Amino acid sequence: MDEMLLRIGYGAAFSGLEHGFGPGPMEDCLRKSARALFEEAMEDRVGFGWLGLPDQSPAPLDETISWLRGFDTVVQIGIGGSALGNQMLSCALCHPCFNELSRKERGAPRFYVADNADPEGTSAILDIIDPSRTAFIVASKSGATAETMANFLLFLDALQKCGVTDPSENILVITDPQKGALRAFASETDCRSLAIPGSVGGRFSVLSPVGLLSAGAQGIDIGSVILGAAAMKESLLGADSLEDNPAWVLAGASILNYRHGRNMIVLMPYADRLESFSEWFCQLWGESLGKGGKGSTPVRAMGAIDQHSQVQLYSEGPDDKLFLILTPTARFDLKLPKPPFESLKSLAYLEGKGMGSMLELEARSTAAALIKAEKPLLWMEIPVVDAYRIGSLVFFFEYATALAGLAMGLNPFDQPGVEQGKRYTYGLMGRPGFEKDAGEARERFSSAMSRSVKV
Ligand code: PA5
Repeated sequence: MDEMLLRIGYGAAFSGLEHGFGPGPMEDCLRKSARALFEEAMEDRVGFGWLGLPDQSPAPLDETISWLRGFDTVVQIGIGGSALGNQMLSCALCHPCFNELSRKERGAPRFYVADNADPEGTSAILDIIDPSRTAFIVASKSGATAETMANFLLFLDALQKCGVTDPSENILVITDPQKGALRAFASETDCRSLAIPGSVGGRFSVLSPVGLLSAGAQGIDIGSVILGAAAMKESLLGADSLEDNPAWVLAGASILNYRHGRNMIVLMPYADRLESFSEWFCQLWGESLGKGGKGSTPVRAMGAIDQHSQVQLYSEGPDDKLFLILTPTARFDLKLPKPPFESLKSLAYLEGKGMGSMLELEARSTAAALIKAEKPLLWMEIPVVDAYRIGSLVFFFEYATALAGLAMGLNPFDQPGVEQGKRYTYGLMGRPGFEKDAGEARERFSSAMSRSVKV
């Protein structure tokens, strides 16, 4: 197996800037942040626990995974960090039409995620499952998030309506070891439950049971995911210069470009399998770094689709973005056939070429076009999209994000803006103890409608 995990080309990362990298203040700052990260993790400080996840064997999850695999369907109920990583692993590592395959072809239950509190989405899942033959993984770090609780209540109700009176037969809870409604529910019903370590934040939890259980249920090799993360961790923690640490390169390039007004970061993978990876990345980056008036806005794009949508803006619009083009160097391929009609002879140049090779060349074309337009970019290559590389990529982005946050002088592990929204929702929905928030939310909202126009 090619042991390479990731290669980053950063020769074009500073287009238009007077200075790029080199030994100096940026490298010193990253070195200090990396040291702080490591030391805080050793102290088991809140927020830093994800650094230890690659060192944990997933073997203790085996029995629960076997239990999940006995069902027809698994539904993950959660939102944000309790859902995006699950979707990302599924998209990257399962058959693209996983749920449409037969049970024999899949060799695993179907898998759905109930994240949004949109009744259309929830009832669509309810339409196609037999609740009694479905395992529900209810994941919430706080054990209280309104969207997750609303979905949980609906699925619990569906279970009861189809005659399952003992929820422990179908429900598994992943939540705080002590606090929250879900923990209390697990004690009351004696259902299966696992703890999200207190020191691991929601968006950093994909390598914990939050992300690994549903992945294991779908037959994803979670042992390789963890091994890949561990290999990346070893490489990153052992490299302390910009020249040999790709996470320092990403963190440093994002900060330098940000300081020059490039306050957006676009992740543009060239592989359908990495589409959900961008969504997962956007939460990680946005929630970790958007604080105190700082932070670059993460944008998800998709190659080659966005070449026909966003790339016009990317190359000729405002110079406010750093681009990350992410591509596997080896992939499944389809050889393009000979055009079978005379009228198609202008397509002969495609004959015998691989469609996957074409996608790779398109990634290079986009990079070349952006470089021509003097836009900064990092070219990111992984050898292949597999469990090992996805695990390594997860750790890589977590590490680079945390490092960027510390180097920018902010706390990458809290999310006060998210919590504010949660409190307003609790208040408006009538949760006791949040009356003040309800009043404030109404007042603020009324200012939005203090002037309006209609047709
Ligand atoms: O990263 C975070 O902490 C948040 O985005 C959470 O993942 C999200 O709000 C869901 O929270 P919880 O897992 O507590 O339900």
